[in-house]
Amino acid sequence: MKPNHIAIIMDGNGRWAKNHNESRKFGHKRGAITARDIVRFTGSLGIEFLTLYAFSTENWGRPLKEVNLLMALFIETLDAEIKDLNNNNVKIRFIGDRSNLKKSLINKIDKAELLTKNNQGLNLTVAMAYGGRWDIVNAAKLIQDKIESNELNQVDIDEEQFSSYMQLGLNPDPDLLIRTGGERRISNFLLWNIAYTELYFCDTLWPDFVSDDLELALDFYAQRKRRYGKNV
Ligand code: IPE
Ligand code: IPE
Ligand code: MG
Repeated sequence: MKPNHIAIIMDGNGRWAKNHNESRKFGHKRGAITARDIVRFTGSLGIEFLTLYAFSTENWGRPLKEVNLLMALFIETLDAEIKDLNNNNVKIRFIGDRSNLKKSLINKIDKAELLTKNNQGLNLTVAMAYGGRWDIVNAAKLIQDKIESNELNQVDIDEEQFSSYMQLGLNPDPDLLIRTGGERRISNFLLWNIAYTELYFCDTLWPDFVSDDLELALDFYAQRKRRYGKNV
């Protein structure tokens, strides 16, 4: 079986750069190229949803120079790729806390979402300034607002209702979560949505991750028996 929704923690750009005696900036640039290629490959496999972790709420704590170069790279990459993404029928969406993002980046994001909103191909979600805990707290606040305005009753809130206020909304949960770069942790990615996701960790640093590596992850996934707590 193929996963319907793949989520990826794209980690290891800095270490890749160090190994190649290059700047972190160069590592991130190579990482952006990998992201582009993996989006294309995933789309060509007919997978419906791909969610990429590009920048975490905790990544704001990096040196300002690195934060700024990452933000500039997001704009550059979006400018360079949006036409192709649209031509390939990709529907792009951004999730995360936009309150600290620069206006110029928010404008690009809004435009890209608008341009591709009716596309029927790959659903690409980019998690930018995203944190799993922020997502849950944000959903709780949205629900509180609805209760206060009498649009929602507390008794009606179940897991599905709650999900609809989360950033991924009613998109299916990820079936497979891939983390590159050797760490075996979630680093505050989609906490709510990965309750029953299959987890795949590999040592390959993100700029070195190619379609064959994705195939290995898909092989791993195909061998999983998903029980969801039942005994079958
Ligand atoms: C992932 O690469 C990219 C972001 C977190 C933005 P890193 O920059 O974390 O690379 P390492 O983990 O230091 O190698
Ligand atoms: C996770 O990588 C975030 C992204 C890939 C965007 P980090 O490099 O920030 O995670 P930690 O610090 O190793 O947990
Ligand atoms: Mg890292």
